[in-house]
Amino acid sequence: MTESRTIADLDQAGLDLIYGQSLLTTQSWSTAQLSALEHLARALADLDRRGIRTPLCPLELAWAVFFDQSTRTKSAWAGAAARLGMQPVIVDGSSTQVSHGETAVETGAMLGMNAHAMGIRHDLILGEGNSFIQDVKTGIDGYLAATDDTRQVPVVNLQCDVDHPTQTMADLLWLEDNLGDLSARNITVSWAYSPSYAKPLSVPQGLITLLTRFGANVTLAHPPGYRLTEETMVAARANAAGGGSFRVVDSMDEAFAGADVVYPKSWGAYDLMLERVDANARNDRAEMAAIEDRALGRNAQYTEWICDERRMGLTRGGDALYMHCLPADIGSEVSPGVMEQHKVNVARQANWKIYVVMALLAGAKVRNLAGELASLN
Ligand code: CP
Repeated sequence: MTESRTIADLDQAGLDLIYGQSLLTTQSWSTAQLSALEHLARALADLDRRGIRTPLCPLELAWAVFFDQSTRTKSAWAGAAARLGMQPVIVDGSSTQVSHGETAVETGAMLGMNAHAMGIRHDLILGEGNSFIQDVKTGIDGYLAATDDTRQVPVVNLQCDVDHPTQTMADLLWLEDNLGDLSARNITVSWAYSPSYAKPLSVPQGLITLLTRFGANVTLAHPPGYRLTEETMVAARANAAGGGSFRVVDSMDEAFAGADVVYPKSWGAYDLMLERVDANARNDRAEMAAIEDRALGRNAQYTEWICDERRMGLTRGGDALYMHCLPADIGSEVSPGVMEQHKVNVARQANWKIYVVMALLAGAKVRNLAGELASLN
């Protein structure tokens, strides 16, 4: 429903808002910056889908470190960097000297020296991931300032304990593709049962904080004990005061009733996510494993929290847009039939991430980007 944006629609004043910027949470960016990022992502997607190459940052190093598994975000980082002419390098966090105690600030200083952009996933432990990313940025910025180096080395949060901004911006683009303006649209973010692992809180937190800024009526649903962090709940309520709404219910059926969009996915029980913080600080692997067992046992109390055909029938016209950040536990979070019906849609949702990352890298690094892109078209 949203008109495709092309480079002709880009205005340099909007792009100036994101030049030199790192994205650590969407909440830390203005709505104007987020809109500029969206417009740029749409323009880059348009060029890419028309086969027009965009080597805007040739021979530069796009280094990313992952302290957790990933399929989509890793490949989106690599694909985005390659499309911009950069060399992507992705490393496992446990293979870096962070595992021997080198600090995030020290690590950032080294990467400010050696790399031209930095992506980080650090999402497993509440209170740690976003702080780590902030410290890396401090290290990079400190090094560049101390050496009078004028290069832009943006830091991109590729999922932390607080937010998953490249995911939620991809989700926003896909939502607007389908719904246009989100004002007065009913979007449900629901907990769903998972037997696989205690998933991070960052996707639901990122969704409730971002979508309330764009005018949606957001419903968060979860069983008792699966609350999100107070900071993100406060932000979602404040954002909703600007035009949308935000409510919390403890019934998946209630949350699905009349929804235009449903986004059912699992996350870990809050008290157990907090227990992990102490066990991880002690490097107590046995206790970490025991907490994970307890988390899966807790999840198993709520196996009927599944997005199935009956629940989809409760949505507006029985035909809500189904979304998932993937990977989904099919048969647990979502029935095989619902996933089969929506499998192309969730792939198209995921495809936006590559253009969000491209927009973040090019937008942060390339001056006069509107003109640079116009010369490529
Ligand atoms: N949705 C998402 O972030 O997927 P990956 O964990 O595979 O990167």
